[in-house]
Amino acid sequence: MQTIPIRNVGEPTGLIDRFQRQYVYLRLSITDVCNFRCNYCLPNGYRPPEHKQRFLTLPEIQRVARTFAHLGTEKIRLTGGEPTLRKDFLDIAHTIAQTQGIRQLALTTNGYRMARDVALWKEAGITHLNVSVDSLDPREFHLITGENKLGEILSGIDKAFEIGYPKVKVNAVLMKQYTAKNLDDFLRWIQHRPIQMRFIELMETGEMDHFFHQQHLSGQSILERLVQEGWQLQTRDLTDGPAKILKHPDYQGEIGLIMPYEKNFCASCNRLRVSATGKLHLCLFGEEGVDLRDLLQDDSQHLQLEQRLKSALQGKREHHYLHLGDSGVRNNLASIGG
Ligand code: 5AD
Ligand code: SF4
Repeated sequence: MQTIPIRNVGEPTGLIDRFQRQYVYLRLSITDVCNFRCNYCLPNGYRPPEHKQRFLTLPEIQRVARTFAHLGTEKIRLTGGEPTLRKDFLDIAHTIAQTQGIRQLALTTNGYRMARDVALWKEAGITHLNVSVDSLDPREFHLITGENKLGEILSGIDKAFEIGYPKVKVNAVLMKQYTAKNLDDFLRWIQHRPIQMRFIELMETGEMDHFFHQQHLSGQSILERLVQEGWQLQTRDLTDGPAKILKHPDYQGEIGLIMPYEKNFCASCNRLRVSATGKLHLCLFGEEGVDLRDLLQDDSQHLQLEQRLKSALQGKREHHYLHLGDSGVRNNLASIGG
């Protein structure tokens, strides 16, 4: 097998756009399939498209990881869909974790297999975990996700701490009906746990504009409440990406606020996305994607692949147009991993 030469320490990375943003973080979707039916994402559950899709194979995934790593990517996040539904999930994790240059391998999961498998994930090389928990009330959790699994997921998170993960990130999408009244539950939960609770503003997608207008709750209102209660906004670390981080002296956990509708949200963008069918997406919103698959079929094409990535990146816009009501082409975020 052909090896790709290693980049020297201190050499600038290959993935820099026209606005001097540097891309060291890849979000790699490995399946569109999900077994949950989150009301903001797949309210009717996953339905396979008419034309059968083939998701990236392990060798294709390995080539994506190697090429991005060679261009300076240090962190890869596995997303979906639900990545752990893939039978070869552990092989995928292991392969990426072994890739030269990759220092962090993160997983975004709905957590349904976490209590059972988290030790295997750690062994395979997953270094960071991100779990979705939109409510701590079991009945509400069931309503939001279509699955009555809150208890199992919470034990999965505790298990992750037991086996040595120092911190877990938890995602909750901000929804008018739920989050404002549940904020205190979340705060109590993270008081003595090293959880970074990430509140994510609901983003409008093609499939759910009505739901969006009903439920959208601004992160700003949560931010103001937290600051009043003594939470302090931290100066931003480059690797945080677009999240605002808050800490409180009485709390072990922290809070991250992700507010994509805010001005300047995109200025700290440090991520690119590859979909489960091998398309490069420069932004969550508003573009079709650049197909990479023809260059993933054998090891000999990595230079062409690098070239395609670099030239596609030159087309990345300065910011998205969400605030103008342009939600782009995405029907939901399950195809691209949020
Ligand atoms: N708005 C905001 N976040 C979303 N996610 C999925 N769909 C949306 C949406 N419309 C995010 C959630 C979930 C993760 C997997 O993707 O944060 O936890
Ligand atoms: Fe599945 Fe995640 Fe979408 Fe929920 S948000 S339906 S868990 S892909």
